Amino acid sequence: MARKKIALIGSGQIGGTLAHLAALKDLGDVVLFDIVDGVPQGKALDLSQSAPVEGFDGKITGTSEYKDLAGADVIIVTAGVPRKPGMSRDDLLEINLKVMGQVGAGIAKYAPNAFVICITNPLDAMVWALQKFSGLPSNKVIGMAGVLDSSRFCHFIADELNVSIEDVNAFVMGGHGDTMVPLPRYSTVAGIPLTDIVKMGWMSKDKLDEIIQRTRDGGAEIVGLLKTGSAFYAPAASAISMAESYLKDKKRVLPAAAFLSGEYGVRDTYVGVPVVIGADGVEKVIEISLNSAEQKAFDKSVSAVEGLIEACKKIAPALA
Ligand code: APR
Repeated sequence: MARKKIALIGSGQIGGTLAHLAALKDLGDVVLFDIVDGVPQGKALDLSQSAPVEGFDGKITGTSEYKDLAGADVIIVTAGVPRKPGMSRDDLLEINLKVMGQVGAGIAKYAPNAFVICITNPLDAMVWALQKFSGLPSNKVIGMAGVLDSSRFCHFIADELNVSIEDVNAFVMGGHGDTMVPLPRYSTVAGIPLTDIVKMGWMSKDKLDEIIQRTRDGGAEIVGLLKTGSAFYAPAASAISMAESYLKDKKRVLPAAAFLSGEYGVRDTYVGVPVVIGADGVEKVIEISLNSAEQKAFDKSVSAVEGLIEACKKIAPALA
C-alpha cells in the first residue's frame, strides 16, 4: 500500500507538533508548509534527523509552495495567528479570515480530494470560511475543537477523582469559545454519568461546576501561562486522532466542528457535535437528545458562532 500524504499548512507551534506526532504514529509522509520560508524546511530537517533514533520511515519535507500539497490525503490547517494574553479567539477573526482565503484557494487547486481538518481560531467560523473558500464537500472539511475541549474536560475529571484517564469519557458540544457546552450527563467514569457521580457524593456539585468552567477557559488558562502563543500539544494530538480515524477508516465517534444542514435545527453553520469519522470523511452527524437546559446552552453557543459567521460575510462578501 502506498504511503499516505499528510500536509500541514502552518508550521508553527502546532504544525511542528503535528508533524512529529504524524511521524511517530507512522501515518505517512509529511509535508510542512508555511509562508515564512525556511521554517518548514528547518523543522522538516530537524524532525527527519530524529527518524533514525525513533525508527520511523515517513519522509518529512518543508515547503513554501502550494504545489507541494498535490495529492495530499489529509490537510491540517493551523495557518494564522494565535492569541496573546487578554485576547479572545474572536479577536483573531479578521486576520485569520484572510489567511483562510489563501489556504482555501491553495487546497482547491492542489488537493481537492483531501480530508481537511482546521485548527485556526476562531475555530467554528474559520472552518466554515475555509470550506466555502475551498469549495470542498462539507463532509470533507471539519474543525478540530470538540476533541480538544472533551480531552480537557476528561483530564480535569480524572485528575479530580484520581482515576485512570482510560476510564473517563467526557463530552463537550457547541462552539469552541466561551459558550461551549460541556455535558456532564453524557460524560462518564467507567460508564457512570458525572451527574450520578455527584449524586453519589464522589464529586461535589461545586467542584463539577468549577471543572466545567475551567474546561471553557481551558485555552485562556494556557495562553495566560505561556504569555507568548497558545496551547499546542493537546490541539495537535486532537487533530491527529481525527486524521487517524479518517486514514484508517476507524469510524471513531468524535466531537468535531461539523457542517450542519438541518441537524439540531441548524443550517449552513459549523458547530461542535458528535460525528463518525471514517474513509468518507464525516460519515454521520449524531443527534443526541438534549434536555431543556442543555438545549438552551447549545442554542446560545450556535448563536455566538452564527454571529461570527455573519462578521465573516461582512468582511468577505464573496462568502455571503
Ligand atoms: N499561510 C501559511 N502559513 C501562515 C499564513 C499563511 N497565510 N499566515 C501565517 N502563517 C503561519 C505562520 O508563519 C506561523 O508559522 O502560521 C503559523 C502559525 O503558527 P503559530 O504562530 O506558532 O501558532 P500556533 O500555536 O501553531 O496556532 C495556530 O491554531 O489554535 C489555533 O489560535 C491558534 O489560530 C491559531 C492557530
